[in-house]
Amino acid sequence: MASAGTAAIVPFLDLKAQYHSIKPEIDAAISKILESSQFVLGEEVTGFEQEFAAYSGAAQGIAVNSGTSALHLAFLAGGIGPGDEVITIPHTFVATVAAIRYTGARPVFVDIDPDTFTMDPRKVEAAITPRTRAIAPVHLYGQPADMDPILEIGRRRKLLVVEDAAQAHGAKYKGRPVGSMSDLACFSFYPGKNLGAYGEGGMVVTSNEEHARTIRMLRDWGQDRKYHHLLAGYNYRMEGMQGAILRVKLRHLEKWTEARRAHAARYRALLADTRLGLPAEMPGTRHVYHVYAVRTRERETLMKVLNEQGIQTGIHYPVPVHLQPAYADSAWQRGSFPHSEAAADEVLSLPMYPEMTEEHLQTVSRALHGR
Ligand SMILES: Cc1ncc(COP(=O)(O)O)c(C=O)c1O
Repeated sequence: MASAGTAAIVPFLDLKAQYHSIKPEIDAAISKILESSQFVLGEEVTGFEQEFAAYSGAAQGIAVNSGTSALHLAFLAGGIGPGDEVITIPHTFVATVAAIRYTGARPVFVDIDPDTFTMDPRKVEAAITPRTRAIAPVHLYGQPADMDPILEIGRRRKLLVVEDAAQAHGAKYKGRPVGSMSDLACFSFYPGKNLGAYGEGGMVVTSNEEHARTIRMLRDWGQDRKYHHLLAGYNYRMEGMQGAILRVKLRHLEKWTEARRAHAARYRALLADTRLGLPAEMPGTRHVYHVYAVRTRERETLMKVLNEQGIQTGIHYPVPVHLQPAYADSAWQRGSFPHSEAAADEVLSLPMYPEMTEEHLQTVSRALHGR
């Protein structure tokens, strides 16, 4: 990142620019909440749940206070608990794995496909044991995991499939929206996400009535009505303000996603003659480029060069989860998941947000060519 106090010439993302582009609508939505005083859940959250579920091709949406809470409740509603195993990938944000642990279950890793950074379906079957209850693919960086073989294994082996779609609002797999394919899908509305709140937020979408009912109770102290607690639940409710803001922003999401895709196409053209490994877009998928991660063996040098020119970059993620001290397990060590480990060493995220201009893209490209 550019050093503190220096305005970046190309920031990693620009939430302020986005706010200014829709300021009157956002300000009106906030005023509405202040006037109605529906600060927790309420009409705006309900409206957002319906609209986002429809957008994601699911019958129901249950809004919660973060993507992590969404994952936690999705696993609980699916009956995951102590003694169970859930298969996921180590090259993800730690929340995917933390949420499995919250239920008392054990995360079991399979490696990624190095071309897509998503779960390699060919590795799944070998990781299944009599304790396996679920598979949790991650649509990392905004690219859908290869869902058909994963869903086929889930059906055949009677395993729950939970999509971690925290980075993939509006992504599609063979024409089907992320969120419409599996038992439950979980989204994050953390501010920097493609659909970001002005605070924390998340949602589970599902077309399973029973799961939806359970999650609605669990997010609100396990109540089926006030002060009647059927389940030992949580305070995971979405704030009214976030629902109202997200409802406004959802109306702009398609346009923003198309802008991200256009920037990705432009990066592809501008950087084609460099030695960088550029993100592959799998045929038949709609990648929504939450993160534009290139691969390079010269990451430290490139980050330094870019930083000196006021171009912010990121690393998603520098340490795979199986090598994080908090998630150590005697079953794996360095070398267990070579593609995830190589990705952690080589990925470099370039600036990517809808409001980027041609000048921004050219500046990044010039800096990467100039070294
Ligand atoms: C892949 C992935 N899963 C889960 C999460 C958790 O979402 P949140 O930060 O809203 O809890 C995030 C985002 O931070 C994420 O990127």
